[in-house]
Amino acid sequence: MQSVKVPLGNRSYRIGIGRRLLDRVGAECAALQLGHRCAVISDRHVAPRFGKAALRALTRAGFEPFLITVPAGETAKSLKSVQSCYDQLAAHRLERKSFIVALGGGVVGDLAGFVAATYLRGIAFVQVPTTLLAQVDSSVGGKVGVNLKAGKNLVGAFYQPRLVLCDLDTLRTLPEREFRAGLAEVIKYGIIFDAALFNRLERDLHRLLKRNPETLAHIVARCCEIKAEVVGQDETESGLRAILNFGHTIGHALEAISGYGKYLHGEAISIGQVAAAQLSAALLGLPKSDVERITAIFQRAGLPTGVHLQPAQMKRLFAAMQLDKKVSAGELKFVLAKRIGQVEFGHRVPKDLVAATIRMSSPG
Ligand SMILES: NC(=O)c1ccc[n+]([C@@H]2O[C@H](COP(=O)([O-])OP(=O)(O)OC[C@H]3O[C@@H](n4cnc5c(N)ncnc54)[C@H](O)[C@@H]3O)[C@@H](O)[C@H]2O)c1
Ligand SMILES: [Zn+2]
Repeated sequence: MQSVKVPLGNRSYRIGIGRRLLDRVGAECAALQLGHRCAVISDRHVAPRFGKAALRALTRAGFEPFLITVPAGETAKSLKSVQSCYDQLAAHRLERKSFIVALGGGVVGDLAGFVAATYLRGIAFVQVPTTLLAQVDSSVGGKVGVNLKAGKNLVGAFYQPRLVLCDLDTLRTLPEREFRAGLAEVIKYGIIFDAALFNRLERDLHRLLKRNPETLAHIVARCCEIKAEVVGQDETESGLRAILNFGHTIGHALEAISGYGKYLHGEAISIGQVAAAQLSAALLGLPKSDVERITAIFQRAGLPTGVHLQPAQMKRLFAAMQLDKKVSAGELKFVLAKRIGQVEFGHRVPKDLVAATIRMSSPG
């Protein structure tokens, strides 16, 4: 197992990355000196596949686990699910020393983390992410929360897990489209932080698409290292952590106007990152060859790189961007790239230029 440390003082924790880690979740939790009782929170797709193995491993290590299953998909990230989890935790008499294991994708991780942050004013939780997106992004960094009708992630907290275990074997059953969507975040790390990672992705993408275990191990670990370093420097997003939002200004707005249905998050930020690369070329001198490499790798990963919007949709896109990010005097704030591997945050970009860039994009 490879290990990455998230350095946050007395809230520091370890990310374990490797194969067959589900069988070790009990032993790993035992080392954290937690109470006996624990809840495994999972969803209807993940629980039937991996729930038993997790419960078995926890029982073998002397814990008394029980399973809470929520519906699969974004709708499960709701206050209704939170209430249902609280009721089940209370019925099983979880105590201050008890803990929660989040077994699933980003939806389960965000929900279970929020439940852990608030139940009895906070009990320990462990992340066992089972999607590529959750392994390289959402399980690390402590942003937890749920959605309201008015918008995504409007209720939440910063609450760090005690441990993250990325079992690469769980990715084998992930639907192809979900896997490719996760790659959009992987590619993002190369663009924002690590030109060598980007080169490696160009070289090894075919192996990654085949989910080759050695390639996956290296890539997931590197992405976790980058996220750990960024979060370690800026836990609550007062500065540097904003670079993780590369491609997300347009991406989030696209998700919002298409009703969180048409695009997966990774697909929307793929379009957003290609647009951000073009804006970077216009405003920050990102070489044209870098824009081409960025566009090409998203295409090779089977992700969309542009979008056709009717004028009315474009209007709604800008309204959504306005809600998502602070706007002043007709300008939006963007993370822009100087070159592959180096970005700057907080760049003001004129709305007209953003609109022209989106208009010129072609759905790939
Ligand atoms: N907290 C953060 O920092 C952060 C960062 C990025 C995204 N997020 C959140 O993460 C969520 C998206 O996460 P996601 O992309 O993992 O989606 P998800 O949790 O909905 O999982 C995607 C689908 O795959 C299924 N699934 C999960 N693991 C599987 C497996 N191993 N085999 C088969 N099916 C499996 C799920 O049941 C679901 O249907 C969003 O709500 C987003 O807001 C949070
Ligand atoms: Zn994202």
